[in-house]
Amino acid sequence: MTSETPPYRTGPELRELFLNYFESRGHTRMPSSSLVPQDDPTLLFTTAGMVQFKPYFLAQSEPPNRRLTTVQKSFRTTDIGEVGDTTHLTFFEMLGNFSVGDYFKQGAIEHAWELCTQHLGLSADRLWTTVYTDDDEAARLWEQTGVPAERIRRFGASDNWWGPAGNSGPCGPCSEIHYDLTPGEPFHDDSCGPNCECGRFVEIWNLVFMEFDQAEDGSRTPLEQKNIDTGMGLERLAAIIQQVENIYATDLFEPVIARAATIAGVSYGTDAETDRALRVMAEHARSGAFLIMDGVTPGNEGRGYVLRRMLRRGIRFAQRLGVNEPFLGRIITEAVIPQMSSAYPALNDARDHIVQTVTREEEQFQRTLSVGTALLDEVMARMEADAESVVPGDTLFRLYDTYGFPVELAEEIALDRGMIVDRDGFQQEMETQRARGRAATTFGGGAEGSEAHRLLSGLSTQFTGYEVARDESTVTGLIVGGGVAESASQYQQVEIVTGRTPFYPEGGGQVGDVGMIRGPSGLARITDTQRPVAERPEFIVHIGVVEEGTLNVGDAVTLEVDPTMRGQSTRHHTATHLLHAALRSTLGGHVRQAGSYVSPDHLRFDFSHMASLNEHEIAAVTH
Ligand code: SER
Repeated sequence: MTSETPPYRTGPELRELFLNYFESRGHTRMPSSSLVPQDDPTLLFTTAGMVQFKPYFLAQSEPPNRRLTTVQKSFRTTDIGEVGDTTHLTFFEMLGNFSVGDYFKQGAIEHAWELCTQHLGLSADRLWTTVYTDDDEAARLWEQTGVPAERIRRFGASDNWWGPAGNSGPCGPCSEIHYDLTPGEPFHDDSCGPNCECGRFVEIWNLVFMEFDQAEDGSRTPLEQKNIDTGMGLERLAAIIQQVENIYATDLFEPVIARAATIAGVSYGTDAETDRALRVMAEHARSGAFLIMDGVTPGNEGRGYVLRRMLRRGIRFAQRLGVNEPFLGRIITEAVIPQMSSAYPALNDARDHIVQTVTREEEQFQRTLSVGTALLDEVMARMEADAESVVPGDTLFRLYDTYGFPVELAEEIALDRGMIVDRDGFQQEMETQRARGRAATTFGGGAEGSEAHRLLSGLSTQFTGYEVARDESTVTGLIVGGGVAESASQYQQVEIVTGRTPFYPEGGGQVGDVGMIRGPSGLARITDTQRPVAERPEFIVHIGVVEEGTLNVGDAVTLEVDPTMRGQSTRHHTATHLLHAALRSTLGGHVRQAGSYVSPDHLRFDFSHMASLNEHEIAAVTH
């Protein structure tokens, strides 16, 4: 065996290798707990291996052994919108070893190193490590274990502090092992290493030194005993060991993707958009099977809503490939269950229930879609009779609000009939409804939203988005339900003000940035960024929903712009200038930009010209 090529192992073999190794080092193998945390109101889903062991870490109950090991089913909601690319997952399996007041940093580091280099066959010269800013002890231990000092990097809390899971509980500094995908190649610059955005390094294992109990207000007290919680994503490890280009090419996913492709009658690997749709179908079918096995049913709130939103997303992507019949049950019975039931036999027992649940959801969504499509057809027929070609925003909004009919789908249907949709009008209706919702949840109604803005508008935000897409700052103000608030909790609509921000606020024809704001006890998904008070442009609000935990005024937060959305808005912004130039050179200097609107998925450009463009002119502008 050369050091460069670890021996091939399947996903099931990797699970066993990990558990056996830790059993041979005195750990007790424990079963994965449910994806629905038991007796833990702070969490919607089980997001990591430590969740079931929280009472042990907090010394609230006695563990069966001070050393434990698991392969834990985990589900994270934060990345649903990203699934379809080659790196994000909602459901994943986490390999972990845990010490409840037994070994600490040294034991965790030595075990991890031995397993990686001696048992998995990962070449030591491809492994780099990271430690928390001031964790000299961990850095020294890595050096003693054999990692050269220049391959040990230090990072702050956003990378090397873990927990609590939920809004309170155990947490501590952490240390990660990263894998170099292209060893021996020159670095693009001196700072390249773990966490570099170039993608050369993949994080494979996180070792958390659980030393503190964090309260809801963010204060920390040392735990009675020091604990270890580690987590290594099985899918990522499999991709490295199997030397395939990404997680979807591992044996854990490949059969599921292949089944999705058969159902859709297409091949994987020929077209980027098709591949993306197949990954969405496969991932959401697999995650859905596990959530339903663990007792979640599609619904309009909480866990049920997450499941519904995810399944519907899968259905919509399948439709793009022409799949209009229920398919989730087939992927699950023909690929997910055969692939996963040796590790999770309960999948077999739950098979009928899972299939019935997903099929019912698919049929219901199909009905939604056909009622919506019929209404849209009626509207479009009337419009054709009146020689109109822009489906109005209030129609789109009614379809969305009453039937859950997605606006993207309305747009596709309209395009098929040579029409376009008024997305701006739709957005305005959404805004109006949001404002109505805000007023309704505020005592006495009225325009409290703007009153809250006025009250907070003395706050200034420094915009850093031209330099960075990720920044750290402090929450200086919050608006919840239209009123100024000190904290915002899970599922609340929130407007967040911070001292600095990389988020571009709407303006200059470009929509506001979207992304995530993460604090020590929770995170919010940001769907818009605005300057709500015209005469105070330094006052910027991030508008979104708290997805997990709580956010509080005074929290240190990491603000992260979704780079794909930013890139697309910027590209469309640039595209408006190119389009303007092309129009002027083809039609003449009189062409003036009358208005434009830029968002991640489309751009609109209004211009003035005396006649319609003929075919030649259109060809000249678009080439
Ligand atoms: N809890 C840590 C994580 O999820 C290590 O298991 O990364």
